[in-house]
Amino acid sequence: MKTVRIFAPATIANLGCGFDIAGMAIDSTGDVLEVTAEPGSGLLIENASGVELPTEIEDNVTTPAVRALLAAYIGEKGGSDRRVHITIEKKILPGSGIGSSAASSAAAVYGLNELLGRPFTPERLVEFAMEGESLIGGGAHHADNVAPAILGGVVLIRSYEPLDIVQLPVPGNFYASVVRPHITVTTKEGRGVLPREIPLKTAVTQWGNVGGLVAGLALGDIDLVGRSMCDAVAEPVRKRFIPGYDQLKANLFAAGAAGANIAGSGPAVFAVCDTAAGAERICSVMADHFASRNIPADVYSSKISNRGTRIITN
Ligand code: HSE
Repeated sequence: MKTVRIFAPATIANLGCGFDIAGMAIDSTGDVLEVTAEPGSGLLIENASGVELPTEIEDNVTTPAVRALLAAYIGEKGGSDRRVHITIEKKILPGSGIGSSAASSAAAVYGLNELLGRPFTPERLVEFAMEGESLIGGGAHHADNVAPAILGGVVLIRSYEPLDIVQLPVPGNFYASVVRPHITVTTKEGRGVLPREIPLKTAVTQWGNVGGLVAGLALGDIDLVGRSMCDAVAEPVRKRFIPGYDQLKANLFAAGAAGANIAGSGPAVFAVCDTAAGAERICSVMADHFASRNIPADVYSSKISNRGTRIITN
């Protein structure tokens, strides 16, 4: 019987303009899972954290992800079934908007793949982990959290059918600040308010920004990255979930943010800039915003790096 201990980072999805197709890893916080596999069958999931998680195994996001990997291992690789035991130390609160379910799914499939001798590529692990995202509802079947969680850095999902994942260049001076207020917005709620159709003018705005985001990363131009982190589709209808959002955003820009927007479906908010000191300053503004409204909140700042899900020893 073998056990691995895995860290999977939190992630910011969408990055403003890239609804469901862009995301990046925030290495300063994440979930830790211990994964054990032995010959046999069956899945056991234990919650070793103070955070409430679904008690039914069928409702845990790691379940469909692990089953998808095992089915492919048996069907495609001729492997034999495994009895899998997962212990979850959940650090990212569900419903916080920084890829909570994605981190657990990513860690689970990464760990199992290691234990099986790495039969699958990281890109294939993204496909398995996406199965977990389907469980969170609201028509979600997206890779913009799981792909950066597994691969690290900034990731573009160029296509879903077939899945085509592109790791974008990460400038050396690229920092993110994130605030996670202690209010819950489920992905299902966040997706429920989205428009089903958008005017052509809105689409043109969004395309321009996605191009600007990719170009800015390729050129190492943080100002271009930041000013492309606009969102004409989801932000206008989702900002209602975040108390004082417009004021917060204005304050973040005043504090030096190059760009800011809602992280995933919210209520977390992120901002980017080009120095560690700037990221810390922006975190203070974020913390003050929610403190002044008596809403507990956690802040994180992180240099964006290419480190994704990995084995850890402690
Ligand atoms: N792209 C997804 C959304 C991410 O915005 O709904 C959810 O975390």
